[in-house]
Amino acid sequence: MEASDEGVVSWKAPSNLAIIKYWGKHGRQLPANPSISLTLSEAHTHTRLRYSKANQYQPAGPEIHFRFEGQAKPAFEEKIRKFIHGIFSEYYPFLKDYRLDIESENSFPHSSGIASSASSMAALALCLTDIEYTLQGKACNSAFYRKASEVARLGSGSAARSLYPYMAEWGAHRDISDASDLYAIDFSDRIHDIFKSYHDDILIISGREKSVSSTAGHALMHNNVYAPARYQQANDRLSALLPVLKSGDVETFQKIAEDEAMTLHALMMCSEPSYILMEPGTIEVIRKIRQFRQDTGTQVCFSLDAGPNIHLLYPDSEKEKVGNFVQVALIPHCVNGKVIRDMAGTGPAKSI
Ligand code: DP6
Repeated sequence: MEASDEGVVSWKAPSNLAIIKYWGKHGRQLPANPSISLTLSEAHTHTRLRYSKANQYQPAGPEIHFRFEGQAKPAFEEKIRKFIHGIFSEYYPFLKDYRLDIESENSFPHSSGIASSASSMAALALCLTDIEYTLQGKACNSAFYRKASEVARLGSGSAARSLYPYMAEWGAHRDISDASDLYAIDFSDRIHDIFKSYHDDILIISGREKSVSSTAGHALMHNNVYAPARYQQANDRLSALLPVLKSGDVETFQKIAEDEAMTLHALMMCSEPSYILMEPGTIEVIRKIRQFRQDTGTQVCFSLDAGPNIHLLYPDSEKEKVGNFVQVALIPHCVNGKVIRDMAGTGPAKSI
């Protein structure tokens, strides 16, 4: 057997938290507005992919076997098969002769309410691109990450941003000449160091499955009367955020992050049909965070994903004050007192 007939690639990819939110899409997974995110470090997916030459001709695409956390998961396997079969002829034509055995695990529990599509699609895209680069004897360069980001985007939009250290931007924008709707770009060298020290404590208000998936939520933007104003607003907020990220202006960062979280959930509430993903505990915690900031001047703010859980964001210098506040005032609102302590991270890593 030749060396290239089989091999193993393995990548760990992080989750990310959008500060300017991607909400609404068109065409083939193209964003309705640009978004920017903080790359996390603890919440990640680890994927190992063994590739081997298949014994027979496979016109539909590579043979795919998938296991999640050591167990067969037919529904996930089907999703991954559909995804790879949908993209391989365009992005990895050589794969048609291969069998792929994929194993994946998350660092966070399935029921924690943390979305896994970003980290899992990013890890898978990195593995697929790594096979290509390995077979062609090429080293991982910036084109490698750009390709992985583009492929990850086709699996899940937010996954495009899980490819880079600290912060990533996805979507064309008037003030960012190298931004693209097709892939995300590394933003780590355009931000102040304070944002590289940011904590994200994820307060688990509910671990229940979401009543409306993100994909369904994006679709509801098509008939949302506020959509055009929202897309304009996201572009304007990103313009306002860029100098803030550069200078380390934490107060304006906090305002923009919270405004974006509230806008996301407002858009859900005024969709047709309307829906609510916040829980009573979400609102109580938001009120407490705002009160605490007002009373103590602590630099802390919140963000929300498409779910009820709170992301508590603060620079490392506020760690002690926020830690006490979380313990005393916020933990009682969390399911079984659960908080996932995360922070800005260095991006994906190849592993063995
Ligand atoms: C609210 O990336 O999960 O987290 O592209 O359909 O997979 P699909 O949606 P997804 O949407 C994420 C929405 C968000 C905001 C964000 O991450 O920008």
